[in-house]
Amino acid sequence: MNILVTGGAGFIGSHLCQRLLTLGHAITIVDNFNDFYDPTLKRRNISEIQGTSSSLGGKLLLQEGDIRDLSFLESVFREGEPEAVIHLAAMAGVRPSIERPALYAEVNLGGTLNLLEASRSAGVRRFLFASSSSVYGNNPKVPFAESDPVDTPISPYAATKKGGELLCHSWHHLYGISVACLRFFTVYGPRQRPDLAINKFARMISSGKSLPIYGDGSSSRDYTYIDDIVQGVVKALEWTSDPYPKFDIFNLGGSHPVTLQRLVEMLEQALGLPARREEFPMQAGDVERTYADLTKSSAILGYEPATSIEEGIARFVTWFRESREKRGGTTPCLPI
Ligand SMILES: NC(=O)c1ccc[n+]([C@@H]2O[C@H](COP(=O)([O-])OP(=O)(O)OC[C@H]3O[C@@H](n4cnc5c(N)ncnc54)[C@H](O)[C@@H]3O)[C@@H](O)[C@H]2O)c1
Repeated sequence: MNILVTGGAGFIGSHLCQRLLTLGHAITIVDNFNDFYDPTLKRRNISEIQGTSSSLGGKLLLQEGDIRDLSFLESVFREGEPEAVIHLAAMAGVRPSIERPALYAEVNLGGTLNLLEASRSAGVRRFLFASSSSVYGNNPKVPFAESDPVDTPISPYAATKKGGELLCHSWHHLYGISVACLRFFTVYGPRQRPDLAINKFARMISSGKSLPIYGDGSSSRDYTYIDDIVQGVVKALEWTSDPYPKFDIFNLGGSHPVTLQRLVEMLEQALGLPARREEFPMQAGDVERTYADLTKSSAILGYEPATSIEEGIARFVTWFRESREKRGGTTPCLPI
């Protein structure tokens, strides 16, 4: 298939593109290489994808541009003739969305609307949307199931992800596009975004800096290893292959929440270094916990996460060390 992946230069997108190429698909990547984090890292991700593509003799096209630009997207659709769209491009992150809510709305809502419109006018019938566990807000019931009410987001980021799901449903209803909205639960692994806890903490522990611990360390996250997320996305893509239009929402998580305190201990162990901790009050917009109920995604998609947090952290640390060595002992990512 010809597949358009937005945000393909990012953390999740780059792993996904490599997997899709391995499965024999032709890929068009749309990304604007913004500076939410160092764009050099995104260029490096693209080199990795290009390496996979050349070793397999795959078809890969990079279209550098912004999903807020509809005419750019229309030309991308004309050239790439995609049969499916996997829409990952977004402004990610809860805390920065409080600083720049308008930007988050423009990219995450406006950009998603453009992608749906471009898909409609190009006759694309299969669409996957990267949503987030943050839509559950501080839902007191755990684990979080797709049927739970998600009408009380507690950050602009969460609100735009919920809004994106609603736009997807409208385009499914009006134009018969099959859509799977995938609620990712904190994804980690090699090339993880540098603003996310595991990567950020590993850099801080390695350089002897104090970790900011928001709250008393008892907040918890359902961490999901990148290979498991990619497996879930590929299964969701298969799910959209039926000739009749479908719409559904699926959790893609690890289903084994870990407290912040435990996460830091595991990183100390894997890195072989002690962590210094500094406590701060919980931050606005941060949820207490996330925990995915996987009953539905397992029953309908056959999604089964296979990587334990211990194994995933070990793999992350191996990548972290190798990247540092390659760069002469410097951090693989941003300065802290
Ligand atoms: N990583 C996680 O834990 C997590 C959890 C839940 C949901 N998600 C969602 O998954 C998706 C991918 O996340 P990620 O962690 O790989 O993030 P990422 O920031 O590494 O990747 C997103 C990519 O989108 C691109 N992008 C952003 N705005 C764009 C624009 N206007 N036009 C074109 N490209 C643009 C960025 O340059 C980046 O390469 C996002 O939609 C994110 O909200 C991620």
